[in-house]
Amino acid sequence: MMNITAEFTTAATKLSQIPDDGLPQVAFLGRSNAGKSSLLNALSGKKKLVRISSKPGKTREINFFKINQAFYLVDLPGVGFAGVDFNKMSEMENGIRAYVEKSKNLRGIIYLIDSKVGLQPIDVETIENVRAAGCPILPVMSKCDKANQSEQAKTRNAIQKILGNDVKPLRLSVLKKVGMEEIWQEILSTVAV
Ligand code: GTP
Ligand code: MG
Repeated sequence: MMNITAEFTTAATKLSQIPDDGLPQVAFLGRSNAGKSSLLNALSGKKKLVRISSKPGKTREINFFKINQAFYLVDLPGVGFAGVDFNKMSEMENGIRAYVEKSKNLRGIIYLIDSKVGLQPIDVETIENVRAAGCPILPVMSKCDKANQSEQAKTRNAIQKILGNDVKPLRLSVLKKVGMEEIWQEILSTVAV
């Protein structure tokens, strides 16, 4: 794993707050609780860079982390969270849509799908929206330590059914340190720095 510096810069709740310094951005997207913030912590090597929680709906803003002064990793709120603060969350979903559709510096989305929970209708809808916005998408099967072979195969097949059989979802376990190096390579080639 390369040595990196990660620095929190911005918690955006409006498009106008999104960094526009021209540095490329790669964002983590997926349902609430899929493990987006945990992945960001693990990649940065800092356990407490981002707050994580066993309760869905932890991340409420679009959080920007500047990596090696060269690009941003972006932690997005989870989609499909119907918790107490539903109105705020649905606003945020519009925020995510606006970010994906309008951000000039967004180079790609890393889309996390919990290997055991599998692909849900909200995932399919969100992935279609990202593709319609013309943004490249890398599917990642998160928490693979929790899913057995047949659950993983089921999740992989569902992903390939919508993204095509040539797409190879990456297997990730932050807990067991599986797939981290591959995700770094994808991020680096996406931002091309
Ligand atoms: P929101 O901010 O609500 O969208 O959630 P999130 O996608 O950022 O998820 P978060 O990283 O907060 O993790 C949710 C829960 O999953 C936490 O309890 C994590 O400890 C757990 N978790 C994350 N990665 C793994 C993993 O690789 N394996 C296992 N078993 N649990 C994990
Ligand atoms: Mg989060």
